[in-house]
Amino acid sequence: MRAKNALMLGLAVVLSSLLAGSALAAPDKVKKSALDTAIGKECVSCHLDDNPGLVKEWKKSEHAKQNVDCYDCHKAKEGEPGAYGHKKYKDKPVFISTVVSPKMCATCHQKEVDQQQPSHHAKGGQILASLDNIMGEVIGGPAAVNAGCLQCHGGTVKLDKNNRPTPQSWPDTGIGRLNPDGSLGSCSACHSRHRFSSAQARQPETCGKCHLGPDHPQKEIYEESKHGIAYAAHKEEMNLKSKKWVAGVDYSAAPTCSTCHMSATQRQGITHDVGERISWTLRPAISSKLNMVRTDNKKEYDLPEGTPLPKVGEEYKGAKVTEVLTWEQRRKKMQDVCTACHTPKTVAGHYKQFDDVVDLYNDKFAKPIAAAMKELTAKGYLTAAPFDEKIEWTWWELWHHEGRRARHGAAMNGPDYTWWHGIYDVAQNTYFKWIPEMKEAVRKKDGNEAFADEILKKYFKPIDGHDWYFNGISKEAIEKVRQGYEDRYGKGSLK
Ligand code: HEC
Ligand code: HEC
Ligand code: HEC
Ligand code: HEC
Ligand code: HEC
Ligand code: HEC
Ligand code: HEC
Ligand code: HEC
Repeated sequence: MRAKNALMLGLAVVLSSLLAGSALAAPDKVKKSALDTAIGKECVSCHLDDNPGLVKEWKKSEHAKQNVDCYDCHKAKEGEPGAYGHKKYKDKPVFISTVVSPKMCATCHQKEVDQQQPSHHAKGGQILASLDNIMGEVIGGPAAVNAGCLQCHGGTVKLDKNNRPTPQSWPDTGIGRLNPDGSLGSCSACHSRHRFSSAQARQPETCGKCHLGPDHPQKEIYEESKHGIAYAAHKEEMNLKSKKWVAGVDYSAAPTCSTCHMSATQRQGITHDVGERISWTLRPAISSKLNMVRTDNKKEYDLPEGTPLPKVGEEYKGAKVTEVLTWEQRRKKMQDVCTACHTPKTVAGHYKQFDDVVDLYNDKFAKPIAAAMKELTAKGYLTAAPFDEKIEWTWWELWHHEGRRARHGAAMNGPDYTWWHGIYDVAQNTYFKWIPEMKEAVRKKDGNEAFADEILKKYFKPIDGHDWYFNGISKEAIEKVRQGYEDRYGKGSLK
């Protein structure tokens, strides 16, 4: 290391101009001081020895081509959160930060950061007051929360006495990371360092780091959808490396996650607010449609349909309302994407089928069970603590896993998730787990079976879809099946 420092003092300029190669050949689009340029060259040459992979990736990036170097991103002022002295330049310590937060990227990419900061992605690290978190911290354990939940959601980056991130809290490229400078999120969640590529972010694999698995299988749903199939078949025609990437114009083979949720159309620009084109929230136990309110202090709020909406110009939560997007307007933005490749009729058909599944899940299963759980708890049949009774796990999986899968499947054209991994599981577990466990909980507490029947009568009986449970499957329904079988396979075929 000492030998290297000596080398650098003498040969820095010559050496780094050789090493940085193409970066220097490109036009100097980013203006900076001669001092910053000189320091930046030192970073490159030393790190090329120590971590050549890292520097080679940077060299392939748009940044290197535009003369944006290490120091432009890692530069920090002494005393700033996360700033520490790292090597010297002409005997003066150079301060840098290991964390490169959205606030840093904003020095050149203000628009993207302004869209990202108020979004759900930026807020993804704020999960402490959730049932999932009790599950993680108490029933699992903190180590699994650190290496599991927080690697997707992002955690609080803590600094040691030298102002460097602690090993418990770093590395972390979770989507809603809480940075030492107060900004939220990590741009490298989708734009992996040091390539920082748009092409990579446009691919479904990027989102699939987080959006997969039993409780939010968007990646798997996409893969089984006609869209995912077309993408796999024609990926090389997707023009992923193009600077401009407008659906239907620069590519037509298939949409990716980014196409629908972020990328440009002929009428809309790119958005780094992934919630902008969504009309439902499919995450909670009971789904609702969401209106969006934006304010002049760069915040945004989701207000469920039915909540009174403020108007543009009015005060809201201590700031002025700049924009109100109703759920219908959010939906229109998404439908605008679809019509790059489909007719409005096809799109309307999709939304009709999607809405019907959400309503089915909400009205037939989620609302009655949620109401019954509330009454059982209020009347002392269940404890207030979550997850200490079997029925609480059953209900949680019903909405958090199975019910979400059904809703996500219907939203993004994954029929297997809508039915087999979705409503099929919801139904089976309602009738053959939740109801028996409810009866068992009541029996155990005071043997008052009449109360269990009352709950079912009150919350389930009024709903048509549950008629078969109370009155058996009707003769006509069975007759219809028998008839169908016999038409296909001959008389007496249904035993
Ligand atoms: C003389 C060689 C040398 C120079 C010049 C140099 N570095 Fe480093 N850098 C290292 C070494 C070795 C490490 C690993 C040891 C450490 O973490 O301090 C490191 C660590 C880092 C880290 C911390 C990584 C982590 O995982 O915590 C960052 C960020 C970094 N350098 C960026 C820079 C930037 C930006 C510059 C230019 C201002 C620069 N380096 C200049 C050698 C150098
Ligand atoms: C466009 C901004 C940008 C540029 C340019 C940049 N970095 Fe980074 N660097 C980051 C980000 C972002 C991270 C990941 C940390 C984070 O998520 O905040 C990172 C991480 C690092 C790390 C830790 C990496 C690891 O995996 O151990 C080192 C070391 C580092 N950078 C050095 C450099 C050097 C040397 C250069 C120049 C060749 C450079 N950086 C150029 C943004 C940048
Ligand atoms: C000093 C200015 C500067 C900083 C700081 C900076 N960038 Fe950039 N970035 C640029 C320039 C210049 C371009 C090229 C723009 C162009 O081609 O129009 C670019 C391009 C990009 C692209 C598009 C790359 C592609 O494949 O087309 C991404 C993504 C990006 N930057 C992300 C980031 C992120 C994330 C950070 C912070 C970690 C960051 N940038 C920090 C100046 C900067
Ligand atoms: C594989 C990445 C990943 C892991 C691991 C993960 N989550 Fe999530 N989580 C997500 C994604 C993605 C969503 C958004 C799902 C959606 O919108 O369909 C989410 C949603 C949530 C939500 C709902 C957020 C809201 O505002 O509605 C909470 C709360 C949550 N997760 C907490 C946790 C906790 C606590 C853990 C660990 C015990 C955890 N998650 C593990 C990726 C992950
Ligand atoms: C959820 C994933 C995701 C995150 C997180 C993300 N980006 Fe992007 N970004 C994308 C995608 C996808 C594109 C490509 C959009 C397109 O061209 O279709 C993109 C494109 C860009 C571009 C090029 C824009 C252009 O007009 O060509 C810049 C600059 C950029 N991002 C900066 C950032 C910054 C800064 C952050 C952090 C605040 C960030 N991104 C976080 C997914 C992401
Ligand atoms: C063809 C367009 C399209 C593609 C491709 C697509 N989505 Fe979606 N996505 C939608 C629509 C439509 C909705 C429902 C919108 C609404 O609520 O009105 C949705 C909903 C979502 C939601 C919201 C779930 C919630 O809890 O509220 C998430 C998260 C999501 N998509 C992520 C992804 C990811 C990740 C991918 C890629 C693996 C992807 N999407 C691919 C159109 C798409
Ligand atoms: C590092 C993890 C991670 C990556 C990568 C990621 N997401 Fe997310 N995403 C999340 C989490 C966590 C949430 C839930 C945040 C919350 O509400 O607290 C979320 C929420 C969403 C939502 C719902 C937004 C809303 O307003 O309700 C959409 C849509 C979405 N992501 C799309 C995408 C797309 C598209 C990509 C890829 C281009 C992507 N995400 C990449 C973790 C991730
Ligand atoms: C970039 C072009 C593109 C975009 C954008 C796009 N799709 Fe598609 N879509 C396709 C292709 C290609 C197919 C496959 C057609 C086939 O296999 O016959 C398809 C298939 C479908 C199908 C299945 C049709 C069938 O007959 O089986 C539905 C439904 C669908 N898309 C709805 C949507 C919706 C809703 C959106 C917007 C949220 C959307 N698409 C956005 C290209 C696109």
